Amino acid sequence: MRILSAMQPSGQLHLGNYFGSMKPNLELHAGADASFFFIVDLHALTTVQDADLLRRNKEEAILDYLACGYDAPDFIVFNQSDVPAHAELMWILSTVTPMSLLSRAVSYKEKVEKGIPASAGLFLYPVLMAADILLYHADTVPVGRDQKQHVEMARDIAIKFNNVFGEVFTVPGPVIREGVAVVPGTDGQKMSKSYGNTIPLFAEEKAIERCVMGIVTDSKGARDPKDPGRCAVYQIHKLLLPAGEAETLADAYRDGLPYGEAKKKLLADYLDYFSPMRAKRAELTAKDARAALARGAKKASAIAGETMETVRKAVGLR
Ligand code: ADP
Ligand code: TRP
Repeated sequence: MRILSAMQPSGQLHLGNYFGSMKPNLELHAGADASFFFIVDLHALTTVQDADLLRRNKEEAILDYLACGYDAPDFIVFNQSDVPAHAELMWILSTVTPMSLLSRAVSYKEKVEKGIPASAGLFLYPVLMAADILLYHADTVPVGRDQKQHVEMARDIAIKFNNVFGEVFTVPGPVIREGVAVVPGTDGQKMSKSYGNTIPLFAEEKAIERCVMGIVTDSKGARDPKDPGRCAVYQIHKLLLPAGEAETLADAYRDGLPYGEAKKKLLADYLDYFSPMRAKRAELTAKDARAALARGAKKASAIAGETMETVRKAVGLR
């Protein structure tokens, strides 16, 4: 199994990202023959058009990812733009990609509706993502439901290319993280940077405390029975606990655990759960990050280089 995943460097990593994407991906990666994980900075250019901000986001993102477990020696971790083959393959793939396929992309329409400029790059976003996947002959691409269509487009593009030029690409399959629940934010809606309701993984303890103590609850009295199923404090807390302990905590809510106390318990367990990652994050330096990225880019370039030689021959550029 060759697993590949990637993330946009788009700001502070939060609990929703960790439990919704990173943790399940890391678990899948653990059983793989080869594991690729990269920061898609070229994709990020479709939305972040501020050079300093992009640089800062990338610097933070790599430290966050390494601290979360992508520092294991068998991971190939790199910045997308450090392997120029991604852009070259995107162009070649775009010449076999029907416009009609791209015009069906839901994510493009949603982004434009949200006010993101409708650039040609945004329209070609799925083709760059197909290049990301096909370059490394990845057969398994773990993604959230929102990215399923993009991986299916990568499949369609691989099949189209293979039909025109011969069997060059492995046809990838998405692995949808079905079992992963949507993590609620501090206001009870889906946790998301765009809603300003996140609990960050690597912020100062005081900032995390403010977020946790600010989680919105209903107006039940301190000792009234509470419904854990409807309480964001509990829904977040249970992610940090083994099943048995989560059930005991749910009983405590039903028996009238005051919200103030529940939040203090959550904060303690939160800091405990993430303390190894937070300690690692605090020790990692920019130099470590540069070294990891350079190592990853070297390995990725070697594999991508071989694929590109086959592609160039197949299409007649060589
Ligand atoms: P945001 O909504 O904060 O901008 P992203 O869209 O960058 O987050 O998400 C990166 C990854 O984290 C995606 O794979 C997404 O599915 C996952 N993710 C983000 N927020 C949540 C959440 N609240 N619950 C579950 N998964 C989430
Ligand atoms: N589009 C993905 C997202 O926004 C990021 C991404 C780019 C990706 N290339 C990829 C994910 C290749 C998996 C594989 O989350």
